[in-house]
Amino acid sequence: MWLLLPILLYSAVFLSVRHIYSHWRRRGFPSEKAGITWSFLQKAYRREFRHVEAICEAYQSGKDRLLGIYCFFRPVLLVRNVELAQTILQQSNGHFNELKWDYVAGYRRFNLLEKLAPMFGTKRLSEMFGQVQKVGDHLIHHLLDRQVQGCPLEVDLQQKLRVYSVNIIANLIYGLDINNFEHEDHILTSYLSHNQASIQSFTLGRLPQKSSYTYRLRDLIKQSVELREDHGLIRKDILQLLVRFRNGNEVSGDKWQLEPINEADKLLSIKRMAKVAEDLLKVSLDAVASTVTFTLLEILQEPLIGEKLRAEIKELSNENGQLKFEELNGLRYMDMCLKETLRKYPPLPIIERVCRKSYSLPNSKFTIDEGKTLMVPLLAMHRDEKYFSEPMKYKPLRFLQTTNDVGQCEDKTKSNVFIGFGIGGSQCVGQNFAKLVIKVALIKLLQNFHLELDANQVKTLEVSHRPAPFIHTKDGLKVKLKRREINTKFYS
Ligand code: HEM
Repeated sequence: MWLLLPILLYSAVFLSVRHIYSHWRRRGFPSEKAGITWSFLQKAYRREFRHVEAICEAYQSGKDRLLGIYCFFRPVLLVRNVELAQTILQQSNGHFNELKWDYVAGYRRFNLLEKLAPMFGTKRLSEMFGQVQKVGDHLIHHLLDRQVQGCPLEVDLQQKLRVYSVNIIANLIYGLDINNFEHEDHILTSYLSHNQASIQSFTLGRLPQKSSYTYRLRDLIKQSVELREDHGLIRKDILQLLVRFRNGNEVSGDKWQLEPINEADKLLSIKRMAKVAEDLLKVSLDAVASTVTFTLLEILQEPLIGEKLRAEIKELSNENGQLKFEELNGLRYMDMCLKETLRKYPPLPIIERVCRKSYSLPNSKFTIDEGKTLMVPLLAMHRDEKYFSEPMKYKPLRFLQTTNDVGQCEDKTKSNVFIGFGIGGSQCVGQNFAKLVIKVALIKLLQNFHLELDANQVKTLEVSHRPAPFIHTKDGLKVKLKRREINTKFYS
């Protein structure tokens, strides 16, 4: 009897694991040879297993457009063809919806992302530009303050840029007049250092909520909303537009003033607003910081690229150290550099979708069932020789012939392979805002400093995706900064 029990238990576990790991074979999909090996378990236990790299390997391992793989006990369908991925993400309405952006008003169900998209329109952004620029100046002031006369300053620029990102979020999304370079104990700064690894969080929609912070962040939102609704504070930021939306006021247009409505009629509760703000915080914090970091890493290694970029920046009017919003749109070479950074180092390496309603995959005999996950390995596609020649080389000019913002490459293919901001209904609503804050950081750094990489670090620099999913350099980015003699008046 005592012997029978463990045998039965073992058999049950063995059969159910085998059942899971034969999912794709049973459904007739091409699939990887599956199974949990001892070395895999060891790596997983020591937290050494590299998911992003494993998925890239699976992408490269064959020619089929679809491949069934397993992420631990989760059968996942990997899309290995860009055109197919685009078709699925663009045309599969209703089959892969992210439910968390749904909201109900009266008897109707809406997608909140669609409603909020006008917050990031050109007119709105141009009026928020003053706030963005102020945050950029905080970064420069902080670096200048730490410099000893005549000596180059050595800093981990990746860390500084993460604080810059937090400052952007604090000022524009949480509506706080705050400089986290000075308030190191602020809750948003603590959020930075609280890394939460999650092996399943490739999709932004399911990044883990840091519960210990959620309540404190909700308090911040509550206070900021009260200031605007009860005391009439008007501040040109994203929070103001969220509060306008909560009160049924237009998000597009050019009004910033609030026309409050009764509490019972409000469209978003404080709890929901805090959730939206925290979601924006999660999706933008690392993405913005890593894009500036990797752009600097690349251009500082390629003097010619750096020179071209500086030449373009030199043309900006820059009166009293202040940039003009309209001029930033004309930075063609910088746009190409940003695109190339997002190609080589997409902050989000994989796009995931969970199937809500079974879906027949286009031009194939296969159907993906409800509850199963589909993955688009953005990083692997962006580094595929088939689409981009010499994919590991940083070549901004490969985007020279871009005719639209989706991207057409000078070499090899003419298909729209660049999908750094996603595609379809869930693509990045904040992309214009992201480009703006990234450009401000880059321009201000390049205008004010000579930057030099730590040559020893570059040799051993390790790019990491842990904690998942965002990309960063494992040991930061050590850079020597020396002040350029311009803008002295404004920054002294
Ligand atoms: C370089 C910076 C950024 C990159 C590369 C980026 C990239 C992306 C990508 C690839 C997606 C699609 C995810 C999917 O399809 O599942 C996405 C979604 C999104 N992005 Fe961005 N993003 C950036 C910055 C921002 C910023 C600054 C904001 C707003 C402040 C923002 C807001 C969003 C939102 C709200 C979504 C939808 C998320 C969801 O469906 O859960 N992003 N972004």
